[in-house]
Amino acid sequence: MNLRLVVLIGIILTCFSYTNCTFKYSADSYHSLYSTVGNPNISPEYDCALRAFTIEMAAYIAPPAVKTNWTTLAQSAFQMNQCNNTLYSTYQPSNHHHKAFNTNQQTCYHKIFVHDIKGNDLFDGTFEQPKKTIQAALSLTRILRTGYGNENILCIIIRGGTYYLGTNATSTSSQIGAIALTSNDSNLIIENYENERVILSGGALLELKWSVHAKTLTGGTIMKAQIPSSINLDQFNELYIDNKRAIVAKYPNGDPATQGLYAKDPGFSYDSQSWISPIHNPSVEIHIQEPYRNGTVFPNYQLGVGGGASVFNPPTNFWSTASPPAGNNYVVPRGLVVKNDALPHMRNWSDPTTGFVHTFHSGYWGGWIFEIASSNSTQNTIMFGRGGFQEARGSDSGGAFYVANIFEELDSPNEWFLDKQTRALYFMPNETMPTDFVASQISCIISISGSHRNNPVENVLIQGLIFTETSNTYMKDFMVPSGGDWSVHRGGTIYSTNTKNITITHNLFNQLGSNGMALIDYNDDTSILSNEFVWLGDSAIILVGSTNGIDGFSVANQPMNTLIQSNLIHEIGIYVKQSAPILISISRSVSVIGNLIFNMPRAGININDGFYGNHSINYNVIFNTVRETSDHGPINSWDRQPFLTDAVQQGSPSLWQHTSYIHHNVLFNNYRSVWPIDHDDGSCFYEDSHNFLVYGGKKNYLGHSKIDHDQIYVYSDLSTGGFGSNNCLNDYNPTRGSSGWNEIWIQNTCILYNSSVPYNIENCNTANLFVPYLVSNKIYIPAGTQVAFICNVNGSSTRLNLQQWQAYGLDIGTTVGTTPTIQTIIEWGRKMLQNTI
Ligand SMILES: *[C@@H]1O[C@H](CO)[C@@H](O)[C@H](O)[C@H]1NC(C)=O
Ligand SMILES: *[C@@H]1O[C@H](CO)[C@@H](O)[C@H](O)[C@H]1NC(C)=O
Ligand SMILES: *[C@@H]1O[C@H](CO)[C@@H](O)[C@H](O)[C@H]1NC(C)=O
Ligand SMILES: *[C@@H]1O[C@H](CO)[C@@H](O)[C@H](O)[C@H]1NC(C)=O
Ligand SMILES: *[C@@H]1O[C@H](CO)[C@@H](O)[C@H](O)[C@H]1NC(C)=O
Ligand SMILES: *[C@@H]1O[C@H](CO)[C@@H](O)[C@H](O)[C@H]1NC(C)=O
Ligand SMILES: *[C@@H]1O[C@H](CO)[C@@H](O)[C@H](O)[C@H]1NC(C)=O
Ligand SMILES: *[C@@H]1O[C@H](CO)[C@@H](O)[C@H](O)[C@H]1NC(C)=O
Ligand SMILES: *[C@@H]1O[C@H](CO)[C@@H](O)[C@H](O)[C@H]1NC(C)=O
Ligand SMILES: *[C@@H]1O[C@H](CO)[C@@H](O)[C@H](O)[C@H]1NC(C)=O
Ligand SMILES: *[C@@H]1O[C@H](CO)[C@@H](O)[C@H](O)[C@H]1NC(C)=O
Ligand SMILES: *[C@@H]1O[C@H](CO)[C@@H](O)[C@H](O)[C@H]1NC(C)=O
Repeated sequence: MNLRLVVLIGIILTCFSYTNCTFKYSADSYHSLYSTVGNPNISPEYDCALRAFTIEMAAYIAPPAVKTNWTTLAQSAFQMNQCNNTLYSTYQPSNHHHKAFNTNQQTCYHKIFVHDIKGNDLFDGTFEQPKKTIQAALSLTRILRTGYGNENILCIIIRGGTYYLGTNATSTSSQIGAIALTSNDSNLIIENYENERVILSGGALLELKWSVHAKTLTGGTIMKAQIPSSINLDQFNELYIDNKRAIVAKYPNGDPATQGLYAKDPGFSYDSQSWISPIHNPSVEIHIQEPYRNGTVFPNYQLGVGGGASVFNPPTNFWSTASPPAGNNYVVPRGLVVKNDALPHMRNWSDPTTGFVHTFHSGYWGGWIFEIASSNSTQNTIMFGRGGFQEARGSDSGGAFYVANIFEELDSPNEWFLDKQTRALYFMPNETMPTDFVASQISCIISISGSHRNNPVENVLIQGLIFTETSNTYMKDFMVPSGGDWSVHRGGTIYSTNTKNITITHNLFNQLGSNGMALIDYNDDTSILSNEFVWLGDSAIILVGSTNGIDGFSVANQPMNTLIQSNLIHEIGIYVKQSAPILISISRSVSVIGNLIFNMPRAGININDGFYGNHSINYNVIFNTVRETSDHGPINSWDRQPFLTDAVQQGSPSLWQHTSYIHHNVLFNNYRSVWPIDHDDGSCFYEDSHNFLVYGGKKNYLGHSKIDHDQIYVYSDLSTGGFGSNNCLNDYNPTRGSSGWNEIWIQNTCILYNSSVPYNIENCNTANLFVPYLVSNKIYIPAGTQVAFICNVNGSSTRLNLQQWQAYGLDIGTTVGTTPTIQTIIEWGRKMLQNTI
């Protein structure tokens, strides 16, 4: 395909909802900014063939109406224009049928129409006499229900147009929407009219009189305008120009939406000199001795309260204890010393306290954002104010950084700065001055909040809408939901709590400051189907329940039976790097099926704890993950903090969870991904099968009771993360009585590219074998090499051949063959994954 055609298709097809495309980026233009997605350790032809197969699978899982659209986007994100038109070109996207979910047509008992331009809130809401605002239509439903009763489905049908819901907004909470549904609003549908484009903006359209403020040394022009008094400056933390996020004045320059550590020009500085040490602030520690999980590395429930944990709301953190397992007490640095001239404009900063430092945790396990309290250019020092709570581990030093929101850094096209003292907005245009400026004013557009889980909002359907232009929330309240590495802001564009049977479908979540969907506490039977999430400051879909300490049994305050299917999620985590397309924490029975997920800073799907379990992650295609962080993979799980639930037996509390299932996914490890399924600290009770796993092997780390079967591991010795997975199976530090027990690896296919050592089983010793149960695997090694199973024999590390290994009763039925052609491997993948939906 020639380049111009790619660009053109990129512009037309960047989004897929009911509604037409709103983006100004073409897919190709932003993806070309990114450093190569290819694996440098392998022949590009092989890598291209595997990328092409991944794209073919994206088309396979795509709903029929969007197969072409998903293909084109995935081709662009996978930089297929860098691949020669040879090996993979013969693979045609499959047109296989797709098992559609039940989208039975709803019947409206009564319809209320809304039309921004022709409507009037005094009208009766008929098609001819529409309401002007959605809020007035909602009020009318409440009046009508007193006559019609509560069981009938009422519909709010919105005509095309842009609804600036941030204008004169009264709520500034990320948990109360401009449109706020309560327990009295059950049996409601909110949707667009036919195929009309309905844009719900969280901003206010600005009417501005611009004047030239100054010319910069670089030849740019800084324009200036007064912000009207009706604009709430505290919520004006994002400026959207022509429906695209503009850049808060920053150094180094670069657009955080398209430039990060994955980009050729990352827009981050690596020139930190040192970090100013944290002050340790002990928390009150809760350690529960009984009940406990016997036979695990993480047997006891523990929590730190207050002290250092006070930066979170509520002021608790699993990591705020004197000796948390596998970590240090949560602290963050108090400031940063930069190298000489690392911040060349620093001595000219007139008010550094408007600014923020965006940086990473020292291990790149997430990111931090701090307010600047003060700076001293003689000492090259920045002291931090609030912040650093955007992940839960803490560390005494950071990583790559940039500073933002300082007037003197406004020196590059598309940058802006708001002077809150004088209400002056400064902006540097590129060539021509744009006209459409929107100030973010709210972060939550719709809230669906029942008063209690026994009085939920029920049967609400939201479809066909475009959500956009909200405020960011990275300096708002964060909380630590459980013993994973995460802290999370429990708010979002759609906030949902105490609900039952809510469906969110065919919506576009585009250019948002915060999370997309936030399912908080009790939400039973939620369906999130066929939406697109793109250009988000934080995560796309978060599920965050709560417990009473260790007790998640007596209080069913958790999302349960959630279905997340056929969504397209990409370009997320623009500001918050410990974020994900899908976060599952303190939740029961989540099904994640047939989603296409790419381009994010960290995992595609993160399961933060072992609460309850019974999750199913099937038929997803995930690639370009872990682009800015490290020590992670496309799917990540942790299980460090036990909770009581009735997962094992109904009505009976236990710390053990139900098995979760991960099958028929394509997980492609590139950028810094290490393990395709990163079953990290303590993960247990997973059945992983029939996945096509590119460039990484199985992982067990401090966990137990996982079964892998019928997987295809492709070139698992070629992880691009730089460490970790160099083989088919990695069993890290298995220890009798606490980890590595009941681990099963059977009937798998593992293809090695260069290595002939299939396993890394630590502590392997033939005198005292404690290894996973290994049976009937097919291992492929390069031609001309000898397979080596490495284990201690008679006290020294020994390379055993297959017969010697099997003589210990291991890997009975396992075969070792010669690595087949890439076409054969892909054919195996196709056979396993297709014709199975
Ligand atoms: C997907 O692409 C097709 C062209 O192949 C286009 O007609 C259609 O509008 C796109 N779908 C959506 C929902 O954007
Ligand atoms: C494309 O072909 C050229 C010339 O044969 C070769 O040098 C290059 O490595 C190929 N690139 C890919 C991605 O296959
Ligand atoms: C719901 O309706 C009941 C009965 O009409 C009323 O008392 C209550 O205030 C309403 N609740 C809300 C949140 O509007
Ligand atoms: C918003 O409030 C201002 C006054 O603060 C008023 O002039 C304006 O009409 C209001 N806009 C809307 C859409 O209500
Ligand atoms: C700092 O400000 C001074 C005086 O306004 C100006 O001459 C100088 O160029 C500025 N320095 C930088 C690095 O911007
Ligand atoms: C900056 O540091 C220098 C050198 O330590 C000191 O003399 C000066 O007072 C400091 N300036 C501010 C504004 O604190
Ligand atoms: C400014 O315009 C030039 C030329 O059109 C373009 O290459 C560049 O990307 C633009 N910069 C920004 C920040 O939009
Ligand atoms: C779920 O809500 C939809 C409306 O969105 C309704 O048609 C359907 O009957 C509800 N299902 C149940 C089981 O109540
Ligand atoms: C497990 O999840 C499925 C949906 O995937 C649900 O039907 C089933 O009831 C759940 N089982 C338990 C024990 O929660
Ligand atoms: C805990 O596990 C150990 C070793 O697996 C076993 O010997 C012991 O009896 C178990 N204790 C309880 C209370 O189950
Ligand atoms: C393949 O293995 C050999 C021997 O271990 C090593 O020297 C070489 O660098 C490896 N090549 C690649 C591409 O990993
Ligand atoms: C280990 O020791 C036994 C008994 O001394 C011996 O028969 C066997 O060959 C040794 N194995 C290896 C691999 O050295």
